[in-house]
Amino acid sequence: MKHLLSTADLSRSEAVTILDTAAQMAATQERAVKKLPTLRGRTVVNLFFEDSTRTRISFETAAKRLSADVINFSAKGSSVSKGESLKDTALTLKAMGADAVIIRHQASGAPHTLAHAGWLDAPVINAGDGTHQHPTQALLDAYTMRRHLKGEVRGAADSKGVIGRDLSGLSVVLVGDVLHSRVARANVALLHTLGAQVTLVAPPTLLPVGVDVWPCAVSYDLDAVLREHQPDALMMLRVQRERMSSAGGGFFPSPLEYSRLYGLDQRRLDMLPGHAIVMHPGPMNRGLEISAQAADSPRSVIVEQVANGVAVRMAVLYLLLAGTSGTEGA
Ligand code: CP
Repeated sequence: MKHLLSTADLSRSEAVTILDTAAQMAATQERAVKKLPTLRGRTVVNLFFEDSTRTRISFETAAKRLSADVINFSAKGSSVSKGESLKDTALTLKAMGADAVIIRHQASGAPHTLAHAGWLDAPVINAGDGTHQHPTQALLDAYTMRRHLKGEVRGAADSKGVIGRDLSGLSVVLVGDVLHSRVARANVALLHTLGAQVTLVAPPTLLPVGVDVWPCAVSYDLDAVLREHQPDALMMLRVQRERMSSAGGGFFPSPLEYSRLYGLDQRRLDMLPGHAIVMHPGPMNRGLEISAQAADSPRSVIVEQVANGVAVRMAVLYLLLAGTSGTEGA
């Protein structure tokens, strides 16, 4: 693995290696001294052309825990606002000795261009590009599912919930704005690779053209899916109003109507099996796709997803950078 651009590029073995490495990284974070010398002397650049709270801070924390130097670049306040191109930005980072570049960009495909145009000779990590992919989010989601659902047994005749290093046999339901969601695309590809059964639930207007060939089931009826699939993990997707022209942008009649049909509230929480977890990549629209009661319920692992993001990103940085020139051992 030279870059991490899309979960669709990962084999089962590569994905499991990242999750196993993340577990080892998480164990190091239980120690009094959390810092490892692994990437001492290496420079990691956080190149963010789009807003972020969780991903940017989490990558910065992960790189610092591995003793790398971190340069945070935000398009706002940089020469990008004067019209500087991605190429010239990349050449500037190269001149400054970047050993890895983490990029978030509003254009789907920008990380791929950065990785393959020949402007850099460093690993590129996609931190979210347009509506395309968000691989480390899907990896931290899979890591969270594995932590919570490993060993879950549904009965002697049904070993569906028993999982090992992958997510074989788990039922995962993703609900909401699939159309605009790079998290959904990244999760569907990774969950399929790891053996989970995935179901997408959304209004027809918030499903992309071509979803019928994705490796998952699709439904418009959340209550029917909760009743029939009894999911092990229920992931609510953010309604991406910034990618719509107004509050609902014509994608749904009203926020109230959306919540009624696709929101997670107490009634729907009560339909889940006892061991099921509730997930959300954040940031949440409380009261729209998820009620405050559901977000703060004991089933919610939303805050833990953020914490797990540090271990997963440490693993990704370690696997991409350690062993390349100038790196010390872990
Ligand atoms: N989940 C996620 O990508 O959050 P941020 O936009 O805050 O990074």
